[in-house]
Amino acid sequence: MGAWGIDVSVQFPLLPTLDADERYAVIYADPPWDYKGQLQHAGPGSGDSGGAVRHYETVKLQDLMDLDVPSISANDSLLFMWATSPHLDQAIDLGKAWGFSWATVAFVWDKQRVNPGFYTMSQCELCLVFKRGRIPTPRGARNVRQLVSEARAEHSRKPVEVRRRIEQMFPRQRKIELFARDADVHGWDTWGADIPHPQTERTFWQEQREAANT
Ligand SMILES: C[S@@+](CC[C@H](N)C(=O)[O-])C[C@H]1O[C@@H](n2cnc3c(N)ncnc32)[C@H](O)[C@@H]1O
Repeated sequence: MGAWGIDVSVQFPLLPTLDADERYAVIYADPPWDYKGQLQHAGPGSGDSGGAVRHYETVKLQDLMDLDVPSISANDSLLFMWATSPHLDQAIDLGKAWGFSWATVAFVWDKQRVNPGFYTMSQCELCLVFKRGRIPTPRGARNVRQLVSEARAEHSRKPVEVRRRIEQMFPRQRKIELFARDADVHGWDTWGADIPHPQTERTFWQEQREAANT
């Protein structure tokens, strides 16, 4: 909601415009799931700054669904997508809305420490995999493990090991990371509001703020 109660629709940086043969066979996404319209905060005991620290904007499911991921996906492609446990149902709906069919849980990240939960003490986060068409070929390693046991770092930062394992599985395919925070990832294109634009060297958020102030 905007300051005057007007529903302001979410803005996204432009996705690449691609010819059919340039589309990505591997899409790796870490969406900023909406926590009931709240900004994503670090809660007490979260291991980083403790209090109500703002980390990033979140995006409602319908707005995520409107992102034109199908236009950058190859006919035979996989979508690897992180989902927090309370968002699992939304994640499956989102993968389907982007033109993929549900496959399985690709990775289980054991964060090596527990967080309080309403039911059990939570410790793991899941990276799901969805398929469009057929599994891309040629394939690489077929013995990559599902469980990644790695201590968590800064807020919502995912282990690099997961990207590394996807590379082992699909070394030859064009790959993009959506909602990425690092611009220069060898072998991957990256897209997200925190990535500096190659020409202006400003992030999408910086450009938005500057536009709002002029
Ligand atoms: C869950 S974090 C991704 C963390 C990342 N995978 C990592 O390991 O560091 C979600 C990211 O989406 C970005 N984001 C939020 N709203 C966005 C939007 N409208 N368009 C593009 N990116 C957005 C946030 O700024 C944040 O960088």
